[in-house]
Amino acid sequence: MMRIPGYFSIFLLFLTTSLSAQQRKEFYLNKGWKFAKDDFQQATANDFNDKNWEQVVVPHDWAIKGPFDRNNDLQVVKIVQNGEKVASEKTGRTGGLPYIGIGWYRLDLPLQQLKSGERVFLKFDGAMSNAQVFVNGKEATHWPYGYNAFHAEVTDLLKQGTTNKLAVRLENKEQSSRWYPGAGLYRNVHLIITQDVHIPIWGTYLTTPSVRKELASVRLQTKIAGLKEGEKANIKLETDILDANGKVVISKATSDNLERASIDQHFLLKNPQLWSPESPVLYKAVSKLYKDGVLKDTYETTFGIRTVMFNAENGFTLNGVKRKFQGVCNHHDLGPLGAAENEAALRRRLLMLKDMGADAIRTAHNMPSPELVKLCDELGIMLIVESFDEWKAPKMKNGYNQLFDQWVEKDLINMIHANRNSPSVILWSIGNEVPDQGTPNGVEIAARLQDICHREDPTRLVTVGMDKIDAVLKNGFAAVLDLPGFNYKPSRYAEAYKVLPQGFILGSETASTVSSRGVYKFPVKTGPDLIYPDNQSSSYDMEHCAWSQTPDDEFIAQDKLDYTIGEFVWTGFDYLGEPAPYESHWPSHSSYFGIIDLAGIPKDRYYLYRSRWNTKEKTLHLLPHWTWPGREGEITPVFCYTNYPAAELFVNGKSMGVKKKDDSDLFGRNRLMWNEVKYEPGNIKVVALDAAGNPVEERVISTAGKPYKIILEADRKMLKADGKDLGFITVTIVDANGNICPHADNEILANVKGSVSFKTIANGDPTNLQLFHEPHMKVFSGKLVITVQSSELKGKGELTVSAKGLASAKIDFKIGD
Ligand code: GAL
Repeated sequence: MMRIPGYFSIFLLFLTTSLSAQQRKEFYLNKGWKFAKDDFQQATANDFNDKNWEQVVVPHDWAIKGPFDRNNDLQVVKIVQNGEKVASEKTGRTGGLPYIGIGWYRLDLPLQQLKSGERVFLKFDGAMSNAQVFVNGKEATHWPYGYNAFHAEVTDLLKQGTTNKLAVRLENKEQSSRWYPGAGLYRNVHLIITQDVHIPIWGTYLTTPSVRKELASVRLQTKIAGLKEGEKANIKLETDILDANGKVVISKATSDNLERASIDQHFLLKNPQLWSPESPVLYKAVSKLYKDGVLKDTYETTFGIRTVMFNAENGFTLNGVKRKFQGVCNHHDLGPLGAAENEAALRRRLLMLKDMGADAIRTAHNMPSPELVKLCDELGIMLIVESFDEWKAPKMKNGYNQLFDQWVEKDLINMIHANRNSPSVILWSIGNEVPDQGTPNGVEIAARLQDICHREDPTRLVTVGMDKIDAVLKNGFAAVLDLPGFNYKPSRYAEAYKVLPQGFILGSETASTVSSRGVYKFPVKTGPDLIYPDNQSSSYDMEHCAWSQTPDDEFIAQDKLDYTIGEFVWTGFDYLGEPAPYESHWPSHSSYFGIIDLAGIPKDRYYLYRSRWNTKEKTLHLLPHWTWPGREGEITPVFCYTNYPAAELFVNGKSMGVKKKDDSDLFGRNRLMWNEVKYEPGNIKVVALDAAGNPVEERVISTAGKPYKIILEADRKMLKADGKDLGFITVTIVDANGNICPHADNEILANVKGSVSFKTIANGDPTNLQLFHEPHMKVFSGKLVITVQSSELKGKGELTVSAKGLASAKIDFKIGD
C-alpha cells in the first residue's frame, strides 16, 4: 500500500466531537456539508461550484420536510403477503414524502497535518441509498443497501497541501420500499485516523464462553492491521477489563512476534455482574497496542456478560431464568424527525417502551444504528437484529432482490461485525416474510445465510419472521432455522410445534391491531379491515387487518402454550408509510399499528400491554374519553386496562357493577369491560379493588367543557449544549377545570427564544398533511408534541405555545453540560 509521505497542511474544520484521544482519533462529520437534490455529473470534482447548495447538518433526511403528496411513489401493486389477489393503487405507502431521486453531499474533510504513517478511514453508519463515496474525485467505496454500515480507507486518495473533498452520491429508486425509508446521509459519518499499525474498525470480537455465578471466562480476539506482508513485528497487546464503575478488575499483556493478524486473550472474571434488561451491567475492555515498544492504538470494546439459551426443555432462558420476550417491532424512522438519527429521540422512545414493560425490540426489517444498539445495551433492552425484507424473490420491483446475489454475504458480515459485541443483541434475523419461503431454493438460501451468521458469530442463533406457514412446515424451511419465528400465526403454533424439531416457537410479529389515538367508533366492533369515512381506526383496540389479530389473540397463545417464547408486537411506535387499512385512501400516510402514535403519545393500547408486562408497577387506565355531545342515552362501552384483579365502575356516582378478569372470554381475560353503559355527561370513575375486594386506587374522566387553556409538559428541561439534544414537549388543550378536550383541534403556534431552536411538531394523526418542520399545527384529540433542539451555547431557552382564543403557556429550559 502506498503511504503518503511527509505532512499534510489541511485545515482543521468542523470537528465536532472527538470520541477518543489517544493514537486513534475519531470524529463525527456533522457540520459543514453542502447538499443538493439532483444529479450532478461533475460534483465529484474538487473545483465544482456548490455555492448555491443547501448547508446541512448530518444526520440529514432530505425528504422529511415534504411536502406530502399522493403522487410521491404512487404504487399500483398487489401485496401478495397481505393476501391481495389483484393490484390496486396504493397511496402513502412510503409516507407520501419525496424520498425518490438522486442527492449529492459534499464536504471539505476536516483533516489536520497527518503525521507520517497515519491512516485515514471513513465510516458510514448507513446512507440511503446506493451510496457512492468519492474523495478528491476518485471513488473510495460504494454500498447499495441503505441500512447497513460500511467503511473504507481513504489514505491513498488524500492530497497534500490542499483541501480534500468528500462527495457522496445517493440514489433512491421508486418502488424500492414498503415503508418510508428516509433519504440521504441519515445516520452518522465518522472520520477515523489511526497509526500505520492499528486495530481495524470493528476489529475486536468479545465472547464469554462460560459463565457461572462465581466466574466468567472472557475471550477477546483482536485483529491487528497495518503490518507489512511477512513482517515479523514485536507486538504487545495490553488489555484492562473495567467494571461498571470504571475500576480495572483484571489486566493482561500479550506479546507476540506476530506473523498472524490477530491476538487472542482470555480472562477469568470473578463474581461477574450479569447483564439483563432488569440490570444492564456493562464492562469495558480497553486494549493498548504496542509495536516495538511504541503505543500505536487504544481501542475500547464495551460488553456484557450473560447466558442465552433456547431449548425444548425451557424455551428461552436468560442467565438461567426462563422468560418470554415482551417485545415490539419498530421501523427506524423517528416520526417527524424522519430517518435522521438522534440519540435523545431514541432514548425517549426506549424509556417509554421500558415503562410499558417491554424488554425487547426487533429492528424491523433492517440493521439498527449504533446509537440504538448502544442505548439498548445501556438501558437493558434485548434486540433481534434483522437484516432483510427480501432475498432473491421480489416483494418490490427495486427492492433488495436486485442486490441479493452480489451483496447478501457482505451485508451480513458488516451487520454482524458491527454488532456482535453488544450484550443486547440476542438473535440475528436473516429475513422477514421473504417470498423465498415458498420457492424451491428457499431452504438452501436460508441454510446458507444462517451458516454465514454462524461463521461470523457462533454464539447466537438465527431466525426468520415467517408468514407462509403451510409452505415452511412442509418444505423444511422452518425446520432448518435455529429458531422458528412466525408472524401472525397464534392459531397455528400448536401444529407447528408438533412437526418442528426445535421444541419452541417465537411470535416474531404479532397483533397488528390498528387504532388512532383518542378516536372511538360506535358500535364497538371487532374485525378486520374496518374502514371509516374519517380514515381513522377505533381505540377500543379490537380492529385489525385481514392477516392480523387483536392483542388478546396472541396473549392467549403466549399464556396457554408453554413452548412459546414470547412475542414482538407490530409495532411499538407508529411509523411513516404503510397506512393499512387505509393504503388506498389518501391522505392517510402513516401507520395505525403503533402502541404509541407518530408524535410519541401513548394510545390506550399502551396501557393494555403495560398491565400485562410491567409487573412492578400498577396500571389503571380507563377509556374512552367522556365528552360525547349527541350520544346521550346511547350505548358507550367503558373499558379498563389494569393489573388489579377487579374494579367497580361508576357513572355519575351510580355503580355499573364490579368486573373481574374473566378467563373464559377472549377480551375479558385482559380487559375489564362494561359493555352496556349509556352515555350521560358528567363523569365516569373506576375504583380498583385488591384481591380481598378493598378499594385501592381510582381514576376519573369528566366531560370536558370548551377549550380554555394550553398545558405543556416536557420530558426533560435540562438539555445538553451540544446542538443535538432534544426536548419533547407535550401540548394539551384543557377546559377551565383542567379536563382534556378530546375533540379539540385548535391550531397552535410555537415560539422559541434563547438557547433552543424549534425542531419539529407532530400530532399523531395519520391523515394530517401539515408539515413537521413548520412551527404550527392542529392538535389531534386534544394533543400534540413539539420538539426543541439545544444550541451549542450554554444558557436558557424558552418555548411559548399559543392558540387563538386560548390562554398560552410557556416552558423554560436550561442548556448546559
Ligand atoms: C407484516 C410485515 C410487516 C408489516 C405488517 C403489517 O406482514 O412483516 O412489515 O407489513 O405485516 O401488519
